[in-house]
Amino acid sequence: MRKLPQGLKLGVATASFQIEGAWNTADKTPHIWDTMCHDHPEYIKDKTNADDACKSFEFYERDIEMLKFLGVEFYRFSISWPRILPTGYANKISETGYQYYNNLINKLLANNIEPVVTIYHWDLPQNLQDLGGWANPLIVDWFGDYAKVLYKLFGDRVKSWITINEPKQFGVFGYGMERFAPRINAAGIGEYLATKNIVLAHARAWHIYDEEFRNTQKGECGITIATDFRGAVSDSPEDIEAGLDAIEFEVGLHSHPIFSSKGGFPDRVVRRVAAKSAEQGFPRSRLPEFTAEEIEYAKGTSDFYGFNHYSTRYYTRSTYTPGSQPIPSYADDLGADFNYLDYEPGLLPHVTVIPPGIRKALKWVKDNCNNPPIFITENGFGTIGGGLRDPERISYYRKYLDNILDAIEEDGCNVVKYTAWSLMDNFEWDSGLSAKFGLFQVDFDDENKKRTARTSALWYKNLIATRTLDSNKTSIPELEEHVF
Ligand code: BGC
Repeated sequence: MRKLPQGLKLGVATASFQIEGAWNTADKTPHIWDTMCHDHPEYIKDKTNADDACKSFEFYERDIEMLKFLGVEFYRFSISWPRILPTGYANKISETGYQYYNNLINKLLANNIEPVVTIYHWDLPQNLQDLGGWANPLIVDWFGDYAKVLYKLFGDRVKSWITINEPKQFGVFGYGMERFAPRINAAGIGEYLATKNIVLAHARAWHIYDEEFRNTQKGECGITIATDFRGAVSDSPEDIEAGLDAIEFEVGLHSHPIFSSKGGFPDRVVRRVAAKSAEQGFPRSRLPEFTAEEIEYAKGTSDFYGFNHYSTRYYTRSTYTPGSQPIPSYADDLGADFNYLDYEPGLLPHVTVIPPGIRKALKWVKDNCNNPPIFITENGFGTIGGGLRDPERISYYRKYLDNILDAIEEDGCNVVKYTAWSLMDNFEWDSGLSAKFGLFQVDFDDENKKRTARTSALWYKNLIATRTLDSNKTSIPELEEHVF
């Protein structure tokens, strides 16, 4: 049994598109995921869409009852850009969108639950995508304007802002591959353009907060980065290099410009993309450069390190065959193969259970990002198929939290908040409704989207109430019926 450190706050998270439904209610306009799911259901594993999802737009008060049941200190949710700004631009605020988030925030506070708000969790207004979306440098202005609207409307009550969730996942999967909306697949070019613009858009939103709102609103503002750890499959010098390159491509690319003392993109990435670009006959590197002014502008623009973590991957270069990935592409620039080694396979590959990986990733952030306060904004376990008894999920949380406590107590990592992903089953992007990450199960066939507590919800409730981690146990709580 281990006591949680005093001051470590516990919460749960969701995101707008994944839970709200009401995709065309009132004046809300479509975003890139609406468009993709409607026009190409075949891109989603089970061909579902999120037109209804958990219907949280309608049933958010039931979500709050679930949060109260768990006893969480905060709730991380995201705001849908086109629900609040139907034109995508800051010229018109939707009254319906405003009322929805305003009520949600007020009711959370009335119940002593702190709202933690993500400004962008991947639902870009479609009309902005039609102009290039994150590949257009004007997104820096558009995003800054949108963030400013939110600070003005809600910043008197919201004290914790996350500008952008997981740049790599929508920047690389969306602009350099065919995995996530908008599936531009401008491999080797689009993902790097998007990455640069994402970093600068985040920095713009932070500067606006810092200069215009911090004094009066007294909150904090930062970015969330996916930190699934990247290591080497063996101790061979070649594999060690591959592991070091992998962590810089996957985590450093977005962390370095914001959290390092030097700023700009990490040297390893700069060198590899420049060399590959030259080999391929490009007149300049496909990785755009930051100007000296942009480097300064982006540096130090996060009050905490928002840290999402699910699993770990191990890299090797000895088996990598040039041409096995599209040329040019981000994957070819990294030029290494990965696997998850022989750890417990989860039902979804990206939740292969490798608990020591989270400790390594926390230490990596401490050592490479100027020892920032770390806000774990997501950690959780997904399964295919539901069921209320979920020993694997409880086991995952026990092991990961055990390693987080080691990182805090033994490695001196400054972890300030922990967030379980997710409050309830929801629309899991390209996996649709088939992947389940919820502490609460959602019946998607039911018009009212009945939510029922899983054993993991009971376990998490007990963790919060006792502030004691039963890491030495394997038993799970007796199932009790709690329906919302
Ligand atoms: C995202 C979530 C997603 C979760 C589980 C993260 O990449 O931020 O929206 O549901 O992983 O895959």
